[in-house]
Order: sequence, then structure tokens, then C-alpha cells
Amino acid sequence: MATKVTWLGHAAFQIETSGTTLLIDPFISGQPQPPCSVDELKADYILVSHGHADHVGDSVAIAQRTGATIIANYEITDYFQKQGVTKVHPQHIGGAFQHPFGRVKLTIAHHGSGLPDGSYGGNPAGFLLYLPEGNIYFAGDTGLTLDMQLIGEEGIKLALLPIGDNFTMGPDDALRAVKLLKPERVVPMHYNTWPLIEQDPNAWAERVRAETSAEAIVLKPGESLEL
Ligand code: NI
Ligand code: MN
Repeated sequence: MATKVTWLGHAAFQIETSGTTLLIDPFISGQPQPPCSVDELKADYILVSHGHADHVGDSVAIAQRTGATIIANYEITDYFQKQGVTKVHPQHIGGAFQHPFGRVKLTIAHHGSGLPDGSYGGNPAGFLLYLPEGNIYFAGDTGLTLDMQLIGEEGIKLALLPIGDNFTMGPDDALRAVKLLKPERVVPMHYNTWPLIEQDPNAWAERVRAETSAEAIVLKPGESLEL
């Protein structure tokens, strides 16, 4: 059974794998042009990479409506419990856990993680998902880090990388990240949501194709690919 990955704009993804639906950083209603309605999203698990509002997004509303379990670092799951979310699974950087759908490891991200109410959000993270069809690396909001070389050693089928610059890696560093990660496929994210992170994803994809062996795929919000 194929794993289907849908970009929901900004850093939000839906991953359907073996009958389980995962959402990553479901910031939907706050986007200038949301690609879907929050009310129509299904979820069994919601993975939240860090505490910033453009990643926490609509997690509470979706978790309360669907009964989804939120996976995040300990400080962020603590915050969600205080928001009334009952099912959470805390992890932390470097730690992996075998969830029913597959193993999830939290990876380092060089960024901040303050939560919307000002409380401490621990360290920001990315996610390494070990799924039956291959490993997916969601970098989260991060600058370029040599740790990506270690992550790449695990064998990455699909990398989801920010290219927006200003708050995260820009196109140049994201290209260097592809060279460290050596993924089979790469999808850019965290760009063009606002003028401050405006980028040309197709120009970036061309550079990836010219300088690496990775297949760069530019999705429009709402579009999917299959592993
Ligand atoms: Ni952020
Ligand atoms: Mn962000």
C-alpha cells in the first residue's frame, strides 16, 4: 500500500500510510489562502515540530474533533494537555518510538520554539519517519546543520525541506542540505506563505536536479505524491 504525502501549504503535510493519517504542523486556517478547510481534515496522529504559531496552527481544534494523538517534544505535549488535548505522546531530540504506523525519531533543528501563550516550548525538532515504503525526513524550521549528514546515513526516500530563507534555510543552504542528506526525492516547503519568505521553488528544483541526483518535486498546496 502506497504512502501518500500531501502538502497543505507552509510546513503542513498530511501523510496517509497503511490506513493511518498523520498531520505534520497543521497550520491551515492562518494561511492567507488555506488549501482546505480545517473541519474536513482527518487525523490519527498530529506531529508538531516546535512551538511557533505557524506550526502549532490548528492542532488543538483538530485533535479535539478527531481524537488524534499529538506527538511532539515533552514541553509542547505538556502545553497541549493544558489546552485540553487528552491524547499526547511526548518524545525528545534523538529519541525514537515505535508507533503503530511506524517509528518516529525527533531530530535536531536549529531554531526557536516559544509557544503561542509565551510558555517554554523546549527545543525545536524535525521528524524522521520510518514508514513501510521508506524513510521521510521532515526538517522542520531549521538552519543548515552538518547533522543532516548523519540523518542522511539512515537512507532518506523523501526529504521535506524549508527554502523560504529569513526564518529558516534559504535556497542556497537547502541545496547544501540535499547534498548532505542524499534523499531520493525532495519537496520544498515554508516559502511563499508571506512576502518575507518569497522564493522561486522551480528555480530551486532546477538547481537540485543539476547539482544532485535527488528528484526535486514542487507541489502546489493541496497536491500529493506517492511513495
Ligand atoms: Ni518557527
Ligand atoms: Mn515557521
